[in-house]
Amino acid sequence: MHLLASKCNNRRTKFPHIPLLGVALLLLLCLASSTSSCTQQEKISLLKFLDRLSRSSGLTTSWRNETNCYMWEGITCNEDGLLTEISLASMGLEGSISPSLGNLTSLLSLNLSCNSLSGKLPAELLLARRIVVLDVSFNNLDGYLHKLPSIHDQAMQVINISSNLFTGQFPSTRLENMKKLVALNMTNNRFTGKIPSTICVNKPFLMMLDLGFNQFNGSIPVKISNCTALRVLKAGHNKISGTLPDELYSATSLEHLSFPNNRLQGELSPQHIVKLSNLVILDLADNGLRGKIPDSIGQLRRLEELRLEYNNMFGKLPSTLSKCSNLTTIILGSNNFYGQLKHFNFSALSNLKVLDFMSNKFSGTVPESLYFCNNLIALRLFSNNFQGQLSPKIGNLKSLKFLSLSNNSFTNITNALQVLKGLGNLTTLLLGTNFRGEAMPEDETINGF
Ligand SMILES: *[C@@H]1O[C@H](CO)[C@@H](O)[C@H](O)[C@H]1NC(C)=O
Ligand SMILES: *[C@@H]1O[C@H](CO)[C@@H](O)[C@H](O)[C@H]1NC(C)=O
Ligand SMILES: *[C@@H]1O[C@H](CO)[C@@H](O)[C@H](O)[C@H]1NC(C)=O
Ligand SMILES: *[C@@H]1O[C@H](CO)[C@@H](O)[C@H](O)[C@H]1NC(C)=O
Ligand SMILES: *[C@@H]1O[C@H](CO)[C@@H](O)[C@H](O)[C@H]1NC(C)=O
Ligand SMILES: *[C@@H]1O[C@H](CO)[C@@H](O)[C@H](O)[C@H]1NC(C)=O
Ligand SMILES: *[C@@H]1O[C@H](CO)[C@@H](O)[C@H](O)[C@H]1NC(C)=O
Ligand SMILES: *[C@@H]1O[C@H](CO)[C@@H](O)[C@H](O)[C@H]1NC(C)=O
Ligand SMILES: *[C@@H]1O[C@H](CO)[C@@H](O)[C@H](O)[C@H]1NC(C)=O
Ligand SMILES: *[C@@H]1O[C@H](CO)[C@@H](O)[C@H](O)[C@H]1NC(C)=O
Ligand SMILES: *[C@@H]1O[C@H](CO)[C@@H](O)[C@H](O)[C@H]1NC(C)=O
Ligand SMILES: *[C@@H]1O[C@H](CO)[C@@H](O)[C@H](O)[C@H]1NC(C)=O
Repeated sequence: MHLLASKCNNRRTKFPHIPLLGVALLLLLCLASSTSSCTQQEKISLLKFLDRLSRSSGLTTSWRNETNCYMWEGITCNEDGLLTEISLASMGLEGSISPSLGNLTSLLSLNLSCNSLSGKLPAELLLARRIVVLDVSFNNLDGYLHKLPSIHDQAMQVINISSNLFTGQFPSTRLENMKKLVALNMTNNRFTGKIPSTICVNKPFLMMLDLGFNQFNGSIPVKISNCTALRVLKAGHNKISGTLPDELYSATSLEHLSFPNNRLQGELSPQHIVKLSNLVILDLADNGLRGKIPDSIGQLRRLEELRLEYNNMFGKLPSTLSKCSNLTTIILGSNNFYGQLKHFNFSALSNLKVLDFMSNKFSGTVPESLYFCNNLIALRLFSNNFQGQLSPKIGNLKSLKFLSLSNNSFTNITNALQVLKGLGNLTTLLLGTNFRGEAMPEDETINGF
């Protein structure tokens, strides 16, 4: 499912970040420079681009009336009077992208995001030696990115082809010589086959890789270890299988590791996971993972989000996890975790906002230390073996909006309703399948919710 919210705004203003004075100076510089007028070749390339558009909104007037194409809307030149930037995001453009843009030899940045452009991405653009930033995200571009010989010394740093309809394998050769790559976002397309094995080879600066919402399959390439600068690796909602390779744990700069909704198997390696000491987000939900949460997870002190729901994991909640005091989100639902929580020190997790233990086999009473987590917004203990009466201290959870205690063995509904009455932010309360054999209390107990 492609559920990514569109970031596209309507038409942007021409120079969003440069104050007016800056715009004036920029224009003056372009005009003052002796080579400030655009070349015939540049003009031809741009007009060919315009001709391929079936809908170009206001562009046509602005572009055709002025003879110097450096004055055209969306076109920027630098101090040397070279056309360096085309910035036409959210312009309502329709039609295809002309390969003639590849003839703009000084172009450094091309941003056509958030339009309705269709057809192929001209090979000339991915292969251009000088282009540093290419953003064609949020369009309807489709087709294959064909294998082509790679170009040496490509300057490319940012590629955003996300939220299009690209299909087929991502050709490994395309990436081989992009040694300066910093960010590559291919999310929300229809790419198939393996994750390109060259994706991390010779990429000392690669910080962000988003492959999510495609149909990538096969295992995670072991060369992932060569991504030494990688901070964000997202590949959720694909068909990636196999185990998390030991090599993955060598990418020690990782802060955000997320592979939800894939077909991963195996266990979290206790001795390797500690190498990822910079991890802030670990999301491996909805896979086929087995085994326990390793005790060593307590060494990941920067951890804020831990999501392991919908796997086949088991064992106790390691008490060491309470050392990760920046945790805001713990979601472990639909596994086979068990045991009592009375020795787990929740009071050390004062930043906790979301705690979801749904459909496990936790037992005993709700631990008192949980009532110190007064930033909790959502607490789901649905379908476990919790028992006993609710403590009046649950009233400390003033921020709580969602509380599900259903399908456990809690007792004394009169008490439960009384202690929950004080939770003024509560909008959802699920208590069903508890309190077996008890009668509903008198009305005055329920009043006040
Ligand atoms: C551009 O030229 C067309 C006709 O050639 C004219 O109608 C229009 O007013 C001109 N627009 C501007 C902004 O000068
Ligand atoms: C690029 O420029 C060359 C030389 O001017 C020209 O022959 C060619 O057709 C141009 N390519 C495109 C796609 O416009
Ligand atoms: C492209 O333009 C859009 C809209 O202004 C902006 O949000 C986006 O960050 C730009 N892309 C790059 C790579 O700068
Ligand atoms: C595309 O991705 C780049 C790199 O992450 C980012 O700077 C840019 O803002 C993104 N574009 C849009 C429209 O979000
Ligand atoms: C990649 O682009 C999508 C939009 O297509 C955006 O939602 C996502 O946040 C981007 N990934 C990263 C890591 O910035
Ligand atoms: C991956 O998907 C392709 C089709 O896109 C298929 O031919 C191939 O067998 C699949 N490989 C694995 C390991 O599932
Ligand atoms: C890739 O990483 C391996 C170790 O995981 C190392 O032996 C190799 O030299 C690295 N290659 C490059 C090109 O950095
Ligand atoms: C926890 O979060 C705070 C506030 O964002 C930050 O200053 C601190 O460095 C974090 N602790 C760790 C161990 O990362
Ligand atoms: C639990 O954590 C809190 C806060 O870090 C600490 O003050 C308290 O001593 C701990 N309790 C136990 C039983 O370890
Ligand atoms: C309620 O819990 C029991 C046992 O804990 C489980 O078998 C059953 O599937 C649960 N019901 C629902 C609706 O999840
Ligand atoms: C149930 O709770 C009510 C109100 O807190 C209390 O008066 C009563 O004694 C409790 N019943 C049992 C059996 O503990
Ligand atoms: C609702 O939550 C806010 C934020 O945590 C808190 O300040 C406020 O007191 C709560 N309101 C009530 C009625 O408990």
